[in-house]
Amino acid sequence: MKKLAILASHNGSNLDAIYNAIQNNQLHATISLVISNNSDANVLQKAKEYNLQHFVLNQKNSQNPDQKITQLLTENLCDVVVLAGYMKKLSADITSNFQVINSHPSLLPKYGGVGMYGRYVHEAIINNNETKSGVTIHYVNEEYDEGKIILQKELFLTPDESVETLERKVKELEQSAVVEALKLCLN
Ligand code: GAR
Repeated sequence: MKKLAILASHNGSNLDAIYNAIQNNQLHATISLVISNNSDANVLQKAKEYNLQHFVLNQKNSQNPDQKITQLLTENLCDVVVLAGYMKKLSADITSNFQVINSHPSLLPKYGGVGMYGRYVHEAIINNNETKSGVTIHYVNEEYDEGKIILQKELFLTPDESVETLERKVKELEQSAVVEALKLCLN
C-alpha cells in the first residue's frame, strides 16, 4: 500500500477528495501524514476528524522546517507528497528525493510562476477576459509550476463569470483531477 503525505496551508480541500477516494476503494493508498505551515489552517481540523497524523511546521517552531519535513517523510516511508494549496516553496532536497505532485488552478504554463497562486490566478484570468481555464496536476521540481504535467482538466468561463464562481468551479474540478492523477502516479 502506497503512503501519501498531504501538505496544505489553508483548507486543503484536496485532502477530502483523496480521503474519500481511499474510503471508497477508488484509490489504494493510505494518508500517513498531514503537514501545514499554518497553525490556524482548517486542514488540521480535518486531519483530526479523519484521525490522521498531523504536524505544524514553520519558521516559528523549527529552525529548518524543510529538514523536519524530510525527516517525517523518511521516517513514515512516504511514497508521494501531495501539495494541496501549500503556499511555501519546498527545498530541492525534498523535490529531488520524493515524488511531489501539485494541483495548480490554471492551465499551465498559463498563469503559473511566482505570485500566481490561489485567488490571484482567478483574478488574472477574469481581468484578461479568458474564455477557458482549468486545473493542472503536475510533478514539482525546483522551478515554480514547471514540473512535468500529469494531467489537465478544462472548463469554459460563462460571460458573467466572477472570481468567486471561477474559484468554486476550479476547486470542484480539482477534486476529481487530483484523484485521477494519483491513480496514474501510484500505478
Ligand atoms: C487550490 O485551488 C489550489 O489549486 C491552489 O490553492 C487552492 C487552495 O485551496 N494552489 C495553488 O495555487 C498552488 N500554486 P484550499 O485551501 O481551499 O484547498
